[in-house]
Amino acid sequence: MKIDNKVIIITGASSGIGKATAHKLAENGAKVALMARSEDDLNDLKTEIEKNNGKALVVVGDVTKSEDFESVVSKTKEEFGAVNGLINNAGLMPLSFVEKLKTDEWNKMVDVNIKGVLNGVAAVLPELKANKGGNIINISSMAAHRYFPGGAVYCATKAAVKMFSEGLRQELAPKYGINITSIEPGAVATNLTSTITDEDVKEQMEKMFEMEALEAEDIANAIYYALTQPNRVNINDVYIVPSEQQ
Ligand SMILES: NC(=O)c1ccc[n+]([C@@H]2O[C@H](COP(=O)([O-])OP(=O)(O)OC[C@H]3O[C@@H](n4cnc5c(N)ncnc54)[C@H](OP(=O)(O)O)[C@@H]3O)[C@@H](O)[C@H]2O)c1
Repeated sequence: MKIDNKVIIITGASSGIGKATAHKLAENGAKVALMARSEDDLNDLKTEIEKNNGKALVVVGDVTKSEDFESVVSKTKEEFGAVNGLINNAGLMPLSFVEKLKTDEWNKMVDVNIKGVLNGVAAVLPELKANKGGNIINISSMAAHRYFPGGAVYCATKAAVKMFSEGLRQELAPKYGINITSIEPGAVATNLTSTITDEDVKEQMEKMFEMEALEAEDIANAIYYALTQPNRVNINDVYIVPSEQQ
């Protein structure tokens, strides 16, 4: 599949993996709809993409609000005429040990990392069905495969995303030609650790990131690979980790 002129919505496009993916897809001819809450960062990204002759639309929105997703879909259709794919990338990782009972942070992770993905699927599915195909790519994590310190809730959210992706694939790919991919990165050098408030975990995470982590562009390349396969090929899972990570 060529992504030339395909219209792809990217959540969490204001930084890290989402931003790198927006650049990669736009450089290769896709029209990208950029969703996140940080309007200035999205506008800067749109300017950068357009400087390179790409096409981008900014739609400020919060993935926990289904009405924001509906507005992203309708504005994207208005601007670009269709929706061909969704990258469910927005996420946060305020790791903490369970006994600290940081229940607000647990709930935020469930809301963004799980419910945000569900909201995205609900918003784009009617469009993809009407188009008789498309792609949904969910950013899960190595955390879906194994627990790491402070990650009880985060790992659970990412395991949910991985299994939801498999359910989506089985229900949607054979029937509608909608291909589904779960991307499961190990450590990537982004701002993801910035929401950690548990000092005990923070120290351990800083140590972990002393190794050579992946770059956001490495994940963008994996997403591009999954998106550019022929329609008969469904890339189910991409488990991609730094060579140095155990
Ligand atoms: N970095 C890693 O090591 C790693 C490893 C495995 C998986 N991942 C996953 O990769 C994804 C991207 O993370 P990243 O590493 O690129 O981190 P990041 O640089 O912190 O980016 C997170 C993005 O999510 C957006 N976001 C957060 N809450 C949101 C909300 N309620 N509504 C809309 N957007 C929201 C943020 O934008 P705003 O704040 O502007 O809304 C930001 O653009 C996440 O799902 C993360 O779990 C990362």
